[in-house]
Amino acid sequence: MLPIHFAPLQGFTESAYRLAHSKFAPGIHTYYTPFLRLEKGEVRAKDLRDLQTEHPYHLVPQIIVRDVAEFKTLTKTVIDLSFKEIDINMGCPYPMQTKSGRGSGILPHPEKVREILDAINASNIQFSIKMRLGRTSPEESLQLLPLLNEAPLAHITLHPRVGIQQYKGALDFETFDKFYSECKHPLIFNGDIADIKDIQYIETRYPKLAGIMIGRGLLANPVLAAQYAGLPCGTATETLLKIHADIAADFARRLQGNAQILDKIRPFWTYADLPKKIRKKIEKSKTFEEYLAAANEIR
Ligand SMILES: Cc1cc2nc3c(=O)[nH]c(=O)nc-3n(C[C@H](O)[C@H](O)[C@H](O)COP(=O)(O)O)c2cc1C
Repeated sequence: MLPIHFAPLQGFTESAYRLAHSKFAPGIHTYYTPFLRLEKGEVRAKDLRDLQTEHPYHLVPQIIVRDVAEFKTLTKTVIDLSFKEIDINMGCPYPMQTKSGRGSGILPHPEKVREILDAINASNIQFSIKMRLGRTSPEESLQLLPLLNEAPLAHITLHPRVGIQQYKGALDFETFDKFYSECKHPLIFNGDIADIKDIQYIETRYPKLAGIMIGRGLLANPVLAAQYAGLPCGTATETLLKIHADIAADFARRLQGNAQILDKIRPFWTYADLPKKIRKKIEKSKTFEEYLAAANEIR
């Protein structure tokens, strides 16, 4: 049975979601925060608040950096909050990040990666890396691998696409195979896992794998990891509704006015498999009450 990691998804897996998910859907080995970044040299207050909330589950903060200076500032912030593990994002495909050399934008720059790995070497907490095959070419990850192999990493999570593909196009299993056979660290697979058959395919194809990280598949079916592990759980729909109720209550408590609450809660359904009629009602609802009535039709 492979450990299942819940992928970080900005705008979805913030603290309210993680807390509700861990309450209603067992079977997740580790949750990750969406990436922390520096804006004008500082971490956003709301990202810090998110890190400081109660987390009765294994949580690893993720950072995104363009160089070792940003790395040092962000790791200090996270360590000051008593975390002992940090994940580094070297996979983000969004041009906002890649054009300034962050996320997958760092992969074509081995000298920048080396400086960060040297700083990891000098640190006494654990680091992992979440990455893609490259920014524009899958060769980038293979060229970095000897450097990565030398660093003291807890694990690497690899999404077998390049940054410019974003989330489209086929997964490049051929390059993943090469990386897998030469990688000395525990390796976690990430990408397009939607059901138990997908998990079984990956665990059979890669028997040395250390885990599977799932993002959108868990947003669509929050009990996927529990079903895979054979743990007692509700149905996907029941659990979606329970998680949704907790988050909606949290937003209603913290936010003001219909527009603000609806803006934050409506995306909850983005990856769920909903009947078209209900999706339309959810999208068109103008008040929180109207929205809740539409969401409750799902049951
Ligand atoms: C809306 C959205 C937000 C994301 N935010 C992050 C993030 O903050 N950090 C990160 O490493 N990856 C992020 N990702 C990538 C996911 O963690 C994951 O690698 C990707 O969705 C592929 O896995 P999946 O096919 O299981 O969803 C994001 C992806 C999406 C679609």
